[in-house]
Amino acid sequence: MPRFLSSRPDSRLIPLPWEVPLAEWPEENLVALPRGISRHVVRFIRVGNSVYAAKEVLEHLALHEYRMLTDLHRAGTPSVEPLAVVSGRVGEDGVPLDPVLVTRHLAFSLPYRALFTQGVRPETVSRLLDALVLLLARLHLVGFLWGDVSLSNVLFRRDAGEFAAYLVDAETGELHETLTRGQREHDLQIATTNLYGEFSDLEAGQLLDASLDPQRLTESIIARYRELWSELTEAEEFAGTEMSRIEKRVRRLNALGFDVAELAIDTLEGGSRIRIQPKVVDAGHHARRLLRLTGLDTEENQARRLLNDLDTFRARTNQTETDEAVVAHQWLTQSFQPVVDAVPAELRGKREGAQLYHELLDYRWYASQRENREVPMLEAVHGYIADVLRGLPDEVIAEAGQAEERQLANPYDPSQGYVDDDEEPLPPDPWETGEQELVRPGFLDIDALRARKG
Ligand SMILES: Nc1ncnc2c1ncn2[C@@H]1O[C@H](COP(=O)(O)OP(=O)(O)O)[C@@H](O)[C@H]1O
Ligand SMILES: [Mg+2]
Repeated sequence: MPRFLSSRPDSRLIPLPWEVPLAEWPEENLVALPRGISRHVVRFIRVGNSVYAAKEVLEHLALHEYRMLTDLHRAGTPSVEPLAVVSGRVGEDGVPLDPVLVTRHLAFSLPYRALFTQGVRPETVSRLLDALVLLLARLHLVGFLWGDVSLSNVLFRRDAGEFAAYLVDAETGELHETLTRGQREHDLQIATTNLYGEFSDLEAGQLLDASLDPQRLTESIIARYRELWSELTEAEEFAGTEMSRIEKRVRRLNALGFDVAELAIDTLEGGSRIRIQPKVVDAGHHARRLLRLTGLDTEENQARRLLNDLDTFRARTNQTETDEAVVAHQWLTQSFQPVVDAVPAELRGKREGAQLYHELLDYRWYASQRENREVPMLEAVHGYIADVLRGLPDEVIAEAGQAEERQLANPYDPSQGYVDDDEEPLPPDPWETGEQELVRPGFLDIDALRARKG
């Protein structure tokens, strides 16, 4: 009998055919979803309404990865959520089978290959790299030495105009109290090798824009990482007359999406010089604020965008003096929810609520410019559904076989590609092809709108 190790057991997992090697599982238990390249057999399995990822792997590795993911999850670092390790599997012929690590499928996530096959603009590549760098820095902040930094071991979720990266493969990870410079450099070294290889593969497959060079991309990742790391952790010294630099440092960290939980401030030379150094920083500055105000759990940049809209709502309804929590509730019920609810059920799998709202804000901005009037959100949503949403590929989860018009070589192992590969590419994503010109002014588009109008 198989043995289940889990802190949050899902009893629906028990009757699954554990005595069958994962690669031979019956279709009724599987879902075909985009997936990255992997060493092990990985399948997406369905139980009730839930979708899980299952990876067949040696026992000590499965247990190690389960524990690493549990710790990362507890520390609030973006990673897939571990669910169980199923061990003690014996095949029908009596031969023992490797255990299976079960994680929760990360909804609306995209492996990098799925993104690149749709065609990505150079700026998008840059955003993906920023997301990866941020993830790596966050992992290092909690003392996690990854050991296998690569695009294949990351999943991307859309985050307003940016991306959020999640760790998916923690097999080689180690958790330490803190990391030494040498340990961090070790991860950067591995990142350099792996990413160079991955970009070169994309280039060879003509999936990388011709203006991008694997070597330069890889170097830019390392440079960005160092810059971010020093902003997050390095000491800064200045004259005692420049106290405002303390405030400035905190603001810069907030702008990067971090809260400063501990800032060490030392006075030197009898107070004539000051030295500050962030000791504890927590990512999720805007996401936490939005969650507290509205209960919406979003990515960081989506939260920025929604908080901006909340501020606009507050000004428009003349409530600058009203308690923020009260206005936030009104915004949620009068502005956000009606828009999300206006999307027909069959299109909900294309974008999650916060992302949809963000894209709609952009859409409305253009509609308003074009028509020279303030187009109301509820009016814009119908245009957005017809012009944009209907044409987008599904990103949540797709039913086996129904998702693609094209036939996968093996529907449960999408990394093997399509039967008719080299023919038609995937349907273009208008957000990528540039057909839908996006406003990408950072997060100040509301101000930009005001400025243009004024
Ligand atoms: N929880 C999950 N949610 C979504 N996709 C997943 C999940 N777990 C694994 N995958 C997909 O499976 C691929 C391989 O998983 P990974 O753990 O990297 O396996 P390997 O150890 O064989 O490299 C990933 O790139 C990702 O696309
Ligand atoms: Mg992997």
